[in-house]
Amino acid sequence: MEAGDFKDFAKAMTDYITEYLENIRDRQVVPSVKPGYLRPLVPEQAPQQAEPWTAVMADIERVVMSGVTHWHSPRFHAYFPTANSYPAIVADMLSGAIACIGFTWIASPACTELEVVMLDWLGQMLGLPEQFLARSGGEGGGVIQGTASEATLVALLGAKARTIQRVKEQHPDWTDTQILSKLVGYCNKQAHSSVERAGLLGGVKLRTLRPDNKHRLRGDTLKDAIEEDLKNGLIPFYVVATLGTTSSCAFDVLDELGDVCNSHDIWLHVDAAYAGSAFICPEYRYLMKGVEKADSFNFNPHKWMLVNFDCSTMWLKNPRWVVDAFNVDPLYLKHDHQGAAPDYRHWQIPLGRRFRALKLWFVLRLYGIENLQKHIRKQIGLAHYFEEFCNKDDRFEIYEEVTMGLVCFRLKGDNEINEELLRHINGRGKIHLVPSKIDDVYFLRLAICSRFTENSDIDLSWEEIKSCADEVLKGVSKN
Ligand SMILES: Cc1ncc(COP(=O)(O)O)c(C=O)c1O
Repeated sequence: MEAGDFKDFAKAMTDYITEYLENIRDRQVVPSVKPGYLRPLVPEQAPQQAEPWTAVMADIERVVMSGVTHWHSPRFHAYFPTANSYPAIVADMLSGAIACIGFTWIASPACTELEVVMLDWLGQMLGLPEQFLARSGGEGGGVIQGTASEATLVALLGAKARTIQRVKEQHPDWTDTQILSKLVGYCNKQAHSSVERAGLLGGVKLRTLRPDNKHRLRGDTLKDAIEEDLKNGLIPFYVVATLGTTSSCAFDVLDELGDVCNSHDIWLHVDAAYAGSAFICPEYRYLMKGVEKADSFNFNPHKWMLVNFDCSTMWLKNPRWVVDAFNVDPLYLKHDHQGAAPDYRHWQIPLGRRFRALKLWFVLRLYGIENLQKHIRKQIGLAHYFEEFCNKDDRFEIYEEVTMGLVCFRLKGDNEINEELLRHINGRGKIHLVPSKIDDVYFLRLAICSRFTENSDIDLSWEEIKSCADEVLKGVSKN
C-alpha cells in the first residue's frame, strides 16, 4: 500500500469508526449468528493478488459487524465495561506506526520513559502513597501490564522470590522444592478466577477464604487461616485483596488485611481491576483505606477509565523482587545504560511490549482529570438511577449495596424465576446482561458499560426488564 492509499483508507476508516460509535445504540447488541457463521463469508484461501482497500472496507459490515457483540452500546450491561475513547484510538494508531518493542530502555527510550511518567501521573491521580511512585526517588514505580491476570501472577512470583530468599536465610539446608511445597497464599472466595489461576501457574497453594455477610474478606478470617497454616508447618506468603469483586463489586477490608500481612511479612497485592478507576474521585478513596500497607496495586484503566484495551496499570513498592525473579540477561539485550531506567522486560512475563503509555498520555491530556472524574461520577449516578427503579418496584430486590457502576438485582423469589427472567431478557435481544451466583443465590448484574449511556438508555433497559418480568411472572401465575 502506498502512502496516498493509506491516507485515503485511514480517512475512510475514521469516518466509519465515528459513524459506528455515534450510532451504536441502533445496532442489535448481541448478533444472532451461529458458530461457524464466518467461514462461508470469506474465500477458502488468502488472495494471490492484492485487493484494493475499498474491497476490504466493503466487507466490514458483511463479515465482521454481522458477528460483533457491541460492548460499547448503551444496551450492553454484561460483565464489566471495557474502555473506548477517541484519544485512545488515535494513540493506538501512533503506537502502530512507531511499532517499537520496548523491552529495554535503549530499545526505545520514549516508550519506557513515558510509561514511567504516566504511571506517576496516574498514581498521583489515585492518591497512591509516594512509595509506589518513581518520582519519590525510592525503589517504587509503576508498569503497564496487559491484563490484571498478569499483574496478579507477576505479584505472586515476586512474593514467591521474596519469601524463598527469607526462608533460605532462616533454613539454609532447605531446598527450593521443600520451601515451594509449603508456600500458601490467600484470597476472598469471591476473588476473580485469575487469582486461582495465578496460584496454578505459580505452582503454589492458594486458599480461598470465606467473606463476611457483605462479601468482604476481613482481617480476622485471614489471621485465623494464617495461624492454622503456620501450625501445620506451612509458609503463608501472598494475599490478594480484591477491591470491587467481579460478581457483586464488594470491597475487601484492605486496612485490616494490611495489618495482618504486615505483621507476618506477607506480600499484599491489591486487585482493583474494575473499581480502581473510581479512586481518581477522592470521595471513593475510603474504599482503599490501608493501601499504604500493600506491596503491589493494580487496576485496569482499560476497563473504566477510557483507555482502550490493553492497559492494566500496576505499581510495586519494591520492584526488585520481581525484577530479580525474572532476570535473564542475554548479551543481545544488554545496553550501556542498564540500571539508569527500568528495563520493563524484567517487570512482566513476555519479552515484547507495545508503546501503551501513549494511550494513557493522550487520554489524560485530552480529557483532563476533571472530565475523567465526571465520567466515573456520571456512570455511578446511572447505576443509582437504575437502582431506584428496582427499589420502587416491590417485585424486585437489590442483592448488593450499589457503590460503583454495577447493580446486582433479582426478582424476589427463587433462583428459577430469575434464571427465567434472564433467559427472557437475553432471548429478546434488546439488551444484554449476565448473571452471577453467591451462596446459591442467583442474581442479575446490570453494569453501566458504555460511555454513551444516558438516563434515557437506562429508562429503556428498565422498561425491557420490567416487561420481561411481567411475562415471566404471568407465566408463573398461569402454572
Ligand atoms: C476483580 C477482577 N480481577 C481481575 C479481572 C481480570 O481482568 P483481566 O481481563 O484484565 O485479566 C477481572 C475482570 O473482570 C476482575 O473483575
